[in-house]
Amino acid sequence: MNQPMTHNLYLHFQELPMSRRVLYTAALLVLGMGYLFGLLYLYASDSGRDGEPGLSVEDIVVSYSGSPEGTVLESALKGSMSTMLSHDDALTIIAWVKGGADKRTFEAQVQPIIEKNCLGCHDGSNSALYNLDGFDNIQTVVEHDTGTDLFTLVRVSHIHLFGMTFIFFLVGLIFSHALVRPVWFKCLLIATPFACVTTDVSSWYFTKLYTGFAWVVMISGALMALSFAAMWFISMWQLWFYKGPDWLQNRITNSKQMFG
Ligand code: HEC
Repeated sequence: MNQPMTHNLYLHFQELPMSRRVLYTAALLVLGMGYLFGLLYLYASDSGRDGEPGLSVEDIVVSYSGSPEGTVLESALKGSMSTMLSHDDALTIIAWVKGGADKRTFEAQVQPIIEKNCLGCHDGSNSALYNLDGFDNIQTVVEHDTGTDLFTLVRVSHIHLFGMTFIFFLVGLIFSHALVRPVWFKCLLIATPFACVTTDVSSWYFTKLYTGFAWVVMISGALMALSFAAMWFISMWQLWFYKGPDWLQNRITNSKQMFG
């Protein structure tokens, strides 16, 4: 039998005891489900942030570095609240926001418009709606949208780094029993997600400085999902359906004869 060189410690899935194969399968099934829900959550929370349907690089920019379009008030005046006032009045308010939202111009030009058109609903009596009564209250809707704040990013980063390491350590460990050649390719599949997690998380911060990094976030995320999918499917297939080359089949039969 010309068995190719394999490492002493290398065992294929089919050489493992049944209990271990069942454990691996169960873990892969639940992790796969978790990954799907993760993607679903990502899509639900980030797609459409830029005003366009679907998930795009612009959504990631808005999510991490904020909207270059500016403030909640501006988006509302161009969007859902545009029917509440005349076009000219909307332009007056937008010009005031763009001009720095100072108090004097507010009192002279903007306050009358707000009082006439908005306070019917936004006078503070309904706690679900922004209170737009007066200069101080209106500050909350004219602050610049600067994206997810640093504190939240730091919190999500550590959860993400720990969580992803666990997931990819498990999946990589399981996948290490697959027969994939060349070996460097197998190692690449195992290592890629770890590299991606690091570039992904650091690019969240870099996107705040330079929006081009949103591409790195997007590409790392995609590569991570691809390597997860590749390891998942190859493992599942080789766990239960793969016959393998002759030398492997012989090795499996021999060890069964020896140990019963
Ligand atoms: C008839 C009641 C009514 C009037 C009048 C009204 N709004 Fe609203 N406004 C709402 C409701 C309800 C919401 C929440 C639902 C939504 O976002 O469409 C809202 C939401 C908003 C938001 C938050 C939007 C977001 O994206 O979270 C802003 C800002 C706003 N309104 C500003 C204004 C301004 C400025 C005016 C006056 C030009 C105005 N509204 C007039 C009922 C009103």
